[in-house]
Order: sequence, then C-alpha cells, then structure tokens
Amino acid sequence: MITKQTIDLVFETARLEEVIGEFVQLKKAGSNFKGLSPFTDEKTPSFMVSPVKQIWKDFSTGKGGNVISFLMEHEHFSYPEAIKWLAKKYNIEIEETEQSDEQKQQINERESMFLVSKFAKDYFHDVLMNTQKGRAIGLSYFKERGFREDTIEKFDLGYCKDEWDNFTKAALDKGYDLKYLKSTGLTIVKEGGEKDRMFDRFKGRVMFPIHSMSGRILGFGGRILTNDKKAAKYLNSPESDIYHKSKILYGLYQAKKEIAKQDNCFLVEGYTDVISFHQSGIENVVASSGTALTPEQIRLVNRLTNNITVLFDGDAAGIRASLRGIDLILEQGMNVKVVTFPDGEDPDSFAKSNSDADLKKYLEEKAQDFIEFKVSLLMKDAQNDPIKKAGLIRDIVTSISKIPDGIQREVYVQECARIMDISERVIFSELAQLINKGQKDRSRSQQTQSFQQPLKPVKEPEKPKVDTLFLLEKEIVRILLLYGNEEIELANWVHSQDKYGRPILEKEEYTNTVSNELYLNLQEDEIEFTNETFRDVYFEIIHQLNQDEQISIDRLIASENTEVSSLVTNILMDEEKYELSDWERKEVFVTDISKILPKLVTDAILNLRRVLIEVKINAIIKEAQEAEAEDQAPDFEEVTNYIELKKLLYEKLNRVI
Ligand code: CTP
Ligand code: MN
Repeated sequence: MITKQTIDLVFETARLEEVIGEFVQLKKAGSNFKGLSPFTDEKTPSFMVSPVKQIWKDFSTGKGGNVISFLMEHEHFSYPEAIKWLAKKYNIEIEETEQSDEQKQQINERESMFLVSKFAKDYFHDVLMNTQKGRAIGLSYFKERGFREDTIEKFDLGYCKDEWDNFTKAALDKGYDLKYLKSTGLTIVKEGGEKDRMFDRFKGRVMFPIHSMSGRILGFGGRILTNDKKAAKYLNSPESDIYHKSKILYGLYQAKKEIAKQDNCFLVEGYTDVISFHQSGIENVVASSGTALTPEQIRLVNRLTNNITVLFDGDAAGIRASLRGIDLILEQGMNVKVVTFPDGEDPDSFAKSNSDADLKKYLEEKAQDFIEFKVSLLMKDAQNDPIKKAGLIRDIVTSISKIPDGIQREVYVQECARIMDISERVIFSELAQLINKGQKDRSRSQQTQSFQQPLKPVKEPEKPKVDTLFLLEKEIVRILLLYGNEEIELANWVHSQDKYGRPILEKEEYTNTVSNELYLNLQEDEIEFTNETFRDVYFEIIHQLNQDEQISIDRLIASENTEVSSLVTNILMDEEKYELSDWERKEVFVTDISKILPKLVTDAILNLRRVLIEVKINAIIKEAQEAEAEDQAPDFEEVTNYIELKKLLYEKLNRVI
C-alpha cells in the first residue's frame, strides 16, 4: 500500500491544469481553463478546469473530479496507478507501507516476472529492428504481411533468433534470475544428462507481446515463420502468476481510449486481425486470441463500453462454436452486434484487400443484431422442419433470457416474434418458463431456499419517477459543501412563562455553524440519507468535523471513493458555471447569501422531515388498508399523530422567513 504521506504529497504537488494539459489543449477563460472534451468528439469546448479549486468538469458527459479521477477516466488507470503516474511526473519518491514477508515475497515474485517480461519485450524488439538476422528474417516477414514500421512500434513486435538460447543467455548476462525466466515460460529447462539445458521457448518466432490494460507485459504470442504443418502456428506463454489466458484481451492496451471514445468494441480472434485493423484506422478492437470468450474478458471491455461487435471469420464451424460467447456478453447486460466476413476471409485479410473507407462501410452496413444474426444462421437448417424450428425458437429465447434488463428483453421478444413470424405470447410464455427454471436452478444450487419460487413477471416493476428525497438530500449536501463552515444566527421558539407566570412562546436566539446545525438536527431525528453517495459524503464530512471542527473540501475532492469526489466536484462546478455565466447575479448572490442562509438551512431540514413523515404516513395507511382487508381494525391513531406533526411542520416552514 502507498502511504498516506505519499498520497498527500502527490496531491499537494500535482497541478491539475498541468496534468490535463498533457492530454487536452487548454485555453484560459477567466480564472479557469476551457478545452474540447477528451471524452467525446465535439466542436465547441465544454470541458472546464478550475486551477483554484483543482477540479475539472466535462459538461458534455457530466464527468468531473480531481486530478486522480481525470487520470482514471482518461487513461483508465486504477487509483494506485494514477498516484504512481503522478509521483513519477513530479519526481516524488513513493513510500509503501510494510507488508508481511509472505505478501512481500508474492509481490516481489510477480514484480520480478514483470521485469523479466519487459526485458524480453525490449530485447526481442531490438533484435527485430537492429540486428542483421532480425531484419532479414523477422522484419521482412512483417513487411511481407504489410505491417508498417509505426505499427510494429505501436505493438512492440519483435523477433526471437533461431538459436537455442540466444535470449536466455542475454537475460542471464543482464542479471535476470533463471527462476523468473522459467516461471514466465520464456526459458524451458530440460533436466538430465550432466547439465541442465536451457532453451528459448520462442526460438525462431516473431513475437507479439501481450499488454495488460495499463501497459505491463503479461506474456507473449510467438508465430512460426514457416508453413510447417506439424509445428503449432502460434505458441503462447504458459499460464503463470502474471499470465492468465482467460483474463487477457490482446490489444486492449492500445485500444482502450478509442473503445471508450467510440463507445463500442470490435472483438476479433487473432493478433493479426487487431494489428491490421489499426493500420486501417480502426483502433477500438481487441482479440480473444483464439480461445472461447470468458466472463472476465467481457468485464474488461465492460469497463470501457456497453457495446460489443463480434467479428466472425467466414467459416461456419467457427461461428457455431462462438455462439456461447454471445450469450455470455448478453448475460453481462451488454449489447451485442455481429458482423460476418465472406467465406475464406478473416478481418485481417479483409482489411488488407479493401480500402479503409470500404472496411468502415462494411462494418457499419453488415452489423446485425444478435437475434437477426442467430435466426438467419440457424433458419437455414430449420426452414421446413417444424421440430427444428421449435428448437430454434427455444434456442433464441434462451439467449434472450440471459439479458438482465426486463425492458430490453421485451424489445428482443418483439423483434424475435417479427422475424420468426410467431406470436409474442408464445415467446413470452417460453421466456417465463426459462426464467422461472433459471431461478429454481439457482436457488437449488445455493441451497438457501427450498420452496418453489413463484413465476416472476417478465416485466420489471417500474421505478419511482422523480425522487423528492434525492433532491432534498442533495440540497443538504450542497449546503454543507458550500456554506458548512459559515456561522449563522438562528432562533428557537421555546415554551416559557412571562413574569406573571403566563405561558408564552419565547424567541431564543443563538449562533451556530451551518454544519453543526445540520448535524444536530439530523442526529436528533436519527435521519439517514437514502442515497448511498450522499451518505458517504455526509459521513466523511462528519468525520472531518469531529477531528478538526472544519470541513475541508480539498480532502473530499481527494477522497479515494471516486463517487464521493465526483459528487463534490459536480456540486462545486455547477456553482462555478453559474458564477461564471452571470457576474452581476453573482454579486447579488454574494450579498444575499448571508441573509438567506439561516432560512436555507432550516428549510432544508424541515423539508426533509416533512417528506420523511409523508413516507411514514403512506406506509401506515398501506398497512391499515391491508389490515382492513384481513378484517382487522386498522389503527388510525398513529396516522392522525403523524398528520398533526406534518401540519406543525408546514406552519414552521411558513414562519421561518
Ligand atoms: N492461436 C493460438 N495458437 C494456435 C493457433 C491460433 O494461440 N496454434 C490464436 C492466436 O492468438 C491467433 C488466433 O488464435 O491469432 C487466431 O488464429 P488464426 O486465425 O489461425 O491465426 P491468425 O490470427 O489469422 O494468424 P495468421 O494470419 O498469422 O495466420
Ligand atoms: Mn490470418
């Protein structure tokens, strides 16, 4: 773990406008900077950076935050990766907290494997570009395949000489431990004889390094150069602590930005498909590397977009084997489209034999919805065979049943009915059975529920529309953030007696900070926010108040909880936009705010109470109705009490002006 001190130092040192300036062209606009959104293709700038507050906001996508969240959004870094990137930029030494020996060893082993893999990547690339054999054999192979040098650089392609241990020797010479050469599979050690013998796993192959999402080298694919039918065309790194075939997508590192930008990911099978697409100007593409798609791989894409377009080679056998992959994508709630290529072509060959524009056009025009695709694929066999057709319907409905979202399921049901010319009712009942069965299977396997689950309606229940509670909770958070540290004059009306002993209402004035006043009131009523992010922000604020009796906005913005930092930023930036847009109003606003602040605070509390009481009243009424339906006497006293309370609140709301 990186220490708190290092993180604080990074935050103190990093200048947001400097960091963002590396990725976005910024222009000064008043006390802020403006630029084109790096997350969309736009013509007029809607991206704003505040150097004073050290926050940014992208008004076209609604994203915003601090320096860390920018790097996480833009570079798809994890939190520690972003901290490390900044530390490097500003020459800050990273301190890490002590780990147990076991943890340390595990981290060190993986670190060492990464190090030797990076060395191998650099070495193979150097051999390819700068040695006579590398150029004559490896580079000329790539050139023959039409790979340009900038592409070769982009993908760090390389060559491993056709000598037994050329690479292994070089690595050992440089001081790398044989242990990690073995565990990464780069070197194969044959035991026996007088002395163990070492071989380069990839000898005589051109090398495709495989990067993690953040660019570390996880392993390699090596392609043979001959047409030897007996030897495997591709050899890959073996499974290890850093190379897990099922969790890797080739090309993700080079594609991630474009996937997010285009909001779509093309999925192909091979290394060369990815590379050819890049050369043709399509960069949002990754490869499953010839294995069946796994849920982990889909989740990697899902971090960047909700849309996948699967590209199939033009051979039917391969397509059928891949259908399961489509169901997996649907299960994750993603949208799937499918493009097939003409017989005998794969994306690589198609990209090479067509112009960039034609390739783009082909992908756009041939993209089929997965239902359309599945039906047209399977309908051929089922044409005049009712039994097969029934099987096909079941097959497609099975796919539809994987979709988690009810509304989307319904859309597909309609489409399926139309394409296959059957009634929606038939499909819905088939679907209901499948979903019901799925639930039973699940509950059985979990062994938590032994009873049969009732048939669930296919449609999801509708969500409540405008959430008043949400708005009121947001208002309280907003007041806390903007005015939390201010002092205000408040008044209480307390029952008292005048000097003759008559009961009177007496005004008791007091001062308090905004944050304290809100805290005490919420505490008194044991009010908890229903919205999780508001609750998190609120807890962090209370925590700060308990420690320092002050709210520090900076620390909230720097929160490791990105939801918190993004919410805080959004609220602050919305205020900023308002101030920027209208100077005069700002003046008015500033002079007025101290006058209206007490009312703002008390109203916020009273309104929240009022709505919570309404919720309570509704619940009691519902309970009463149910009791009545079961012939029991409903208890109206409670309702009456709450209604009284509500009246009182309305009175108070009117009084505090
Ligand atoms: N693959 C593999 N091992 C093999 C064959 C294939 O790991 N023996 C993986 C590779 O990732 C390869 C992908 O499956 O890129 C697709 O295989 P294929 O279509 O046969 O290869 P291409 O990518 O088309 O490679 P090339 O054009 O060089 O033949
Ligand atoms: Mn190919």
